[in-house]
Amino acid sequence: MKTANVQGYGDDPLSVRETGHYKKEYAKSFVEKWDDLIDWEGRASAEGEFFIEQLRAHGCKKVLDVATGTGFHSVQLLRAGFEVTSVDGSAAMLAKAFENAHKRGYILRTVQADWRWLNRDVHDLYDAVVCLGNSFTHLHNENDRRKSLAEYYATLRHEGILILDQRNYDAILDKQVEPSHQYYYCGEDVSATPEHVDESLARFRYSFSDGEVFHLNMFPLRKAYTQRLMREVGFQNVTTYGDFKETYRESEPDFFIHVAEKKYVEQKDEGQE
Ligand SMILES: C[S@@+](CC[C@H](N)C(=O)[O-])C[C@H]1O[C@@H](n2cnc3c(N)ncnc32)[C@H](O)[C@@H]1O
Repeated sequence: MKTANVQGYGDDPLSVRETGHYKKEYAKSFVEKWDDLIDWEGRASAEGEFFIEQLRAHGCKKVLDVATGTGFHSVQLLRAGFEVTSVDGSAAMLAKAFENAHKRGYILRTVQADWRWLNRDVHDLYDAVVCLGNSFTHLHNENDRRKSLAEYYATLRHEGILILDQRNYDAILDKQVEPSHQYYYCGEDVSATPEHVDESLARFRYSFSDGEVFHLNMFPLRKAYTQRLMREVGFQNVTTYGDFKETYRESEPDFFIHVAEKKYVEQKDEGQE
């Protein structure tokens, strides 16, 4: 078994809890393997039309994919007829996404930008921002999470929506279930398992069939915490789905998907009848 040394974890991997570390974590050799992990065809059939239907139901046409990764959702959305701009902070990921899209007959419009200062590089308004594939979990401190959500909010038009997904970390932290990876990590002969979990770190181990091993250090977002942050930056309506379903038992889903609306909702002032 070869544990890749290229991800910059050093001698004390559990101490690596910095937001900016994602660029090192997605080392070129890991990026090259990412698509084995997610298997595009398996993922497409597991997700079905969920995101497309959400976007259409909210009248969205112009979408900003802020966590493009290797391009899976950008390509799915282009295929479904949306106008897509593909953002990622990692140049290696964007290069891979461009190549993947090109192979499938699409030219991606890419912007390399970090979410914490997204609007420095993205100067347009969108009907939807999508942040998918458990990406928001890469932000290791609360200020970065608030700032990124505020940046997403700012790039949305008035009635726009944010769709952001996350692992069911409550179930992992509270040791209710082991995640089954049914929906996202569909690749054969690949395993993704939590190697260490505490309230501020979930370190996952990704083992590939050729014996290579990579890791990701992520912040374990509790569902209610993510919902609260979204409301605090101004999203008033937040609907959370569990593995694409509206009703679910809390410990069951592998993933939660939050759909947060920017639309202003009139509320009675406190004390008002
Ligand atoms: C888990 S991957 C998911 C990729 C893709 N959405 C998928 O589902 O396959 C997370 C992506 O978020 C990007 N990312 C992480 N932190 C970021 C940040 N602060 N700003 C911009 N991109 C970031 C990484 O470079 C990586 O491509």
